[in-house]
Amino acid sequence: MEEEARRRTLYGRRRGKKLRSGQQSLLDTLLPRLAIDLPRPPDGVAPEPLDLARLFGGALPKGGVWLEVGFGAGEHLVWQAKTHPEVGLIGCEPYLNGVAKCLAHVEREGVDNVRLMTDDARLLMAALPAGSLGRVFVLFPDPWPKTRHHKRRFVQRETLDRLAELMVPGAELRLATDDPSYLPWMVEHACTHPAFEWLAERPADWRGRPDDWPATRYEKKRIAGIPTFLRLRRR
Ligand SMILES: C[S@@+](CC[C@H](N)C(=O)[O-])C[C@H]1O[C@@H](n2cnc3c(N)ncnc32)[C@H](O)[C@@H]1O
Repeated sequence: MEEEARRRTLYGRRRGKKLRSGQQSLLDTLLPRLAIDLPRPPDGVAPEPLDLARLFGGALPKGGVWLEVGFGAGEHLVWQAKTHPEVGLIGCEPYLNGVAKCLAHVEREGVDNVRLMTDDARLLMAALPAGSLGRVFVLFPDPWPKTRHHKRRFVQRETLDRLAELMVPGAELRLATDDPSYLPWMVEHACTHPAFEWLAERPADWRGRPDDWPATRYEKKRIAGIPTFLRLRRR
């Protein structure tokens, strides 16, 4: 119960409407082949760094490893995996209905370079080796608009500091939001972070997506407002 309460404050809900039998079957059969199962060390003991070569079948992917935090239904993650077969894609998403949708994309597209963590991305980030990520996507994270909930936002000094440790110099951090209060927060926290350089030179750079950045399911719903796209480079 206590664990469940912790989860709710971290990222909201874990299950939505009842899964269809095909979705449940993907969770039962395909997910175990792709899932990242982190060892849980006792409190206060740092986890062993994750062996990424082993995770991707015995060798590090030639194009490096990219991470997508909160992939939703996974269409962007799988598009990136298919477009960049030389890259290993890790996706983190605790919402199981989204994970099931992502597995359907993985199966349909026949990609074998995706691995999934069905929990809070920060647990995975604690276990990744330093300098192991070549690109990170945080697309339309939950805005937690109430001031008292701002501390739950994924984009925080602490997570950015950790991402800076995990990302190789020159690696790109892609952020997107359509929430009018999260945008200035992202600019304040990420674009001014000393480890990151904001790549925008003109408004068109944050108003439009680059060609290799397909629209996510959430973006297409146009829930909050105008989507904004931020690209930053690890210095
Ligand atoms: C508004 S949705 C956007 C989903 C997707 N990126 C898109 O654009 O369609 C935010 C997602 O982030 C996930 N999420 C929230 N906190 C997270 C965390 N700490 N680690 C991983 N995923 C998280 C939620 O479960 C949710 O699916």
